[in-house]
Amino acid sequence: MSTVIDGKALAETLRSRIKQAVSELQAEHNIVPGLAVVLVGENPASQVYVRSKARQTVEVGMQSFEHRLPENTSESDLVQLIKELNQEPQVNGILVQLPLPAQINSEHIINTINVNKDVDGFHVENTGRLSIGSDSLIPCTPAGCLILLKRTIGDIAGQNAIIIGRSNIVGKPVAQLLLKEHCTVTIAHSRTRDLSSTCRQADIVIAAVGVPEMVKGDWIKPRATVIDVGINRITDNSGKSKLVGDVDYASASEVAGAITPVPGGVGPMTIACLLQNTIIATCRQRQIKLPEAIS
Ligand code: GUN
Repeated sequence: MSTVIDGKALAETLRSRIKQAVSELQAEHNIVPGLAVVLVGENPASQVYVRSKARQTVEVGMQSFEHRLPENTSESDLVQLIKELNQEPQVNGILVQLPLPAQINSEHIINTINVNKDVDGFHVENTGRLSIGSDSLIPCTPAGCLILLKRTIGDIAGQNAIIIGRSNIVGKPVAQLLLKEHCTVTIAHSRTRDLSSTCRQADIVIAAVGVPEMVKGDWIKPRATVIDVGINRITDNSGKSKLVGDVDYASASEVAGAITPVPGGVGPMTIACLLQNTIIATCRQRQIKLPEAIS
């Protein structure tokens, strides 16, 4: 049996450091960081995420600004809101929850966000900076995966890593991060040939494909570290609804050295990293040092 990587506990530790950092900012600079979250439409999963982000923002002592817009919002109205948030000094971070309704061009919206307030790290300038290894705001889920890996393995230099999935939100940025950490990186996707045997070569497996329980135990190299980014709601044989990852946990946990559970693995780390990015963005905007608690 493998070690279970407890993302929930680690995220709690990170949040308590963030809370301390927020207190330091207030005491030393009279600054309270603010995060604006924008939700367009009524996607049920997005509503849950946005509520959770707003609650945790307030819990660590930061200001939360929520903007909920109707499903039929036009792209120009959303652009207008973002331009206002770009100008608002109390707002240090802006997150537009994805996916957006079909009439809105997500890429245009993301690139309208002030690059220094882009706490998702999705702006083309932050993406480019990450790819050349320079300072940037790093996307939250990839940042969470890296923290979990380093806590579990220590130095990951030289390890063979496979990332299953090539999304702009997770697959591509996590590949860049692992490359920066000197891993040998394979990005696999729906056209990859013989995925299971390619996966069996990997010391690190990151599953971010969005297919419930796709990665089976016999795809995993013995003692490998498995990070499951998937969050899929399925109905089990008894008709009950439950959350599962992209990894078949029952079989994979028999083979892996360490594995993240779903829920309780990567998910909680994502929001903790978002809060951390909001502090980093605040300090860059105000040109002050990062508080000691998170530096
Ligand atoms: N939808 C799913 N994951 C994310 C994320 O990390 N950020 C945003 N903005 N939307 C998402």
